[in-house]
Order: sequence, then C-alpha cells, then structure tokens
Amino acid sequence: MRIFVSPDAAAAGAAAADLVAAVAARRPRLVLGVATGSSPQPLYRALHEHVVRSLDLSGATAFALDEYVGIDPRHPQSYHAVIDRDARQPLGLDPARVHVPHGATADRHTTAAAYDRAIAAAGGVDLQILGIGSNGHIGFNEPGSAYSSRTRVVDLAPQTIADNSRFFDSADDVPTQAVTQGVGTILDAREIVLVAAGAAKADAVAAAVRGPIGPAVPASFLRQHPRVTLFLDEAAAALLP
Ligand code: F6R
Repeated sequence: MRIFVSPDAAAAGAAAADLVAAVAARRPRLVLGVATGSSPQPLYRALHEHVVRSLDLSGATAFALDEYVGIDPRHPQSYHAVIDRDARQPLGLDPARVHVPHGATADRHTTAAAYDRAIAAAGGVDLQILGIGSNGHIGFNEPGSAYSSRTRVVDLAPQTIADNSRFFDSADDVPTQAVTQGVGTILDAREIVLVAAGAAKADAVAAAVRGPIGPAVPASFLRQHPRVTLFLDEAAAALLP
C-alpha cells in the first residue's frame, strides 16, 4: 500500500487525478470504478482539467460502487444522479457505458448478482476510485462485511445514515439500505486509488492502514491487494505514524 499525503483535499485530489490520468492515457478502453460522495470530488475536478487539456475518456466504461435502495434514480441524491453530475459530465464519459446498480427495482437482489457479471463481462475494473466511511466502510460494505462479499443489498449503519444526512433534508430522509459492490468485488479491481480528507476520516484511515485486518474495518482488507494507493490530506493522515 502506497500512501501520499498532501496539504489539503484539493492537492490530494489533484495527485490522485494524475495517477488516474496516467493509467487512462495507456488504456483507451479503460474500465473505471467510480465512487460518489465528497471524497472523490476534488479528484473529478482535477481529472476534468486533464480532459480539457488532452485526456480522452470517451472510450472508457464506468461502474459505480453503489446505489441507495428505494430511491428514484431521478432524485438529485440518488447515485445515478450524483455519478452523472460529478463524474459522467465533467469527464466526458459515454452515458451508454456508465453503469450504476439499480436500487429502485423490486428484483434488486437479482440485479445485484447481474452487476458482478456485467463487470466481469466488461473485462473487470482496471482502476477503482474509493472513498472511506468514517466507520471504515468501502462502498457500503459496513463493519461486519466479509472479505469474500459480492454485490448485494445491505443495511446502512447508523453512523453512515448520520454522516450522509448532510445530503438530505434530514436523517429520516436517508435511505436505510443500499446495493453495494462487495469487498471481494472491489478487490477484484486491478488497481485501487482511495482518497480521504478531513479530520473525521483520521480514525478510519489509521485503522485501515495499521489496525488488524478484518471485517470490523472493511477498508483494512485493502492491505491484501497488491496495488493500492491512498491519497490523503494532512488531517486525514494525522493519526498515522
Ligand atoms: C460512495 C461510497 C462510500 C463513500 C464514503 C465516504 O460511493 O461508496 O464508501 O466513499 O461513505 O463518503 P464521503 O466521501 O462523502 O465522505
């Protein structure tokens, strides 16, 4: 696991974007794993600058990590909408090749299994972008998630609902379940980039980097992957040795 620490979130995002751009430049048919939330936004903004200059991502395929269960895809906080706004548009991705799990359909359990097959059919994820939850989750693999877990429907932890209430009118409006790529699905990616910024992530980052590897901190499983790079700001890295 490589770790780079930058003075602030924008600089961490720019450093992460440089890595993503370098990989993308070598692979015109890149399969990119995309995350939602606050963490990847500086990365997407910096990657947009690469696209404006010369990087062409129009041949890339993207797979999102997760989606809330029971949310209308047209809701502004659905991950369909967030991925479209934060990643698809600024990165110039082809809408026909941007995939987000479906959380609204009655057959979401079937849909979840089909999502893993769609990733495999695309050749697997070349580069996965991740954030980390304040409780150590990756995707919505909450504490207790197994190393071998695949895309499935999960209950969100109370901490996650509280954290994500900032995107909704109140905590009562945050969906309580999600469809998420499993830990095993995420670890199948050939390379992983995790971005984290702010003091609220310091405990989770320290637990992931130097705590015991296990389901109590799903991000700790990243240490069993051969190609993971963390881009942190100083606040998120504050509890590292
Ligand atoms: C997002 C995702 C989550 C977030 C995590 C951090 O698709 O799966 O794991 O990366 O909850 O969220 P932010 O970046 O908003 O602090």
